[in-house]
Amino acid sequence: MNFYCMTLFPDMVNDAFNTSITKRACENGIISMTAVNIRDFADNKHNSVDDYPYGGGAGMLMQAEPVYRCYEYIKGKIGSNARVIYTTPTGKVFNQKMSEEFAKEENLIFLCGHYEGIDERVLEEIVTDNVSIGDYVLTGGELASLVMMDSISRLVPGVLNNLSSARYESHSEGLLEYPQYTRPAVWHGKSVPEVLLSGNHKKIQEWYKEESYKRTMERRPDMLENDI
Ligand code: ADE
Repeated sequence: MNFYCMTLFPDMVNDAFNTSITKRACENGIISMTAVNIRDFADNKHNSVDDYPYGGGAGMLMQAEPVYRCYEYIKGKIGSNARVIYTTPTGKVFNQKMSEEFAKEENLIFLCGHYEGIDERVLEEIVTDNVSIGDYVLTGGELASLVMMDSISRLVPGVLNNLSSARYESHSEGLLEYPQYTRPAVWHGKSVPEVLLSGNHKKIQEWYKEESYKRTMERRPDMLENDI
């Protein structure tokens, strides 16, 4: 999996991605992430990439040409077409299913919006997926891209040590994950549930299922409704 991130803040994207598990996966050559600065593709001597919106209104818009040139540069590097994910609060809300879908791709291009948005004409030409990470507004698309790249990365085989940790967790089976415990067996007067100490594998699996269901019912009943 090769990620390309079109952004005005490459340092922000590089710093966050080159940390912890995604860093190790990059070092091991399982994934890669290239942040490309849209400003490097400005077509004027001041390197400006924004302008006032036609029709008036507050704020500035990113111009079409630098974004398009940046995209063409990345496309040239990849040597073929790739999905272009535009991070925008007007997009479809990201979820685990979308993450699994994106994880099947070999290359993914993220386009981070800034200012008040991007000229619609370039979006029409290059964007394949408009995606939001939730019903709230961020100052820019970088954090949204990072959230998605992180979630997609951990589904790429070899990124996590243990494949099962990707399989039986919250959202992957339509339920939230059950509570978990480690040593000591008693902490602040609270004991680990008896069944987990029983060694009875079948009973433990049943307990996991029940607890997942209970937790989902309590915290995210909407997930159970969507199931029907
Ligand atoms: N840019 C600003 N807000 C966003 C959001 N909620 N999701 C994705 N990109 C965004």
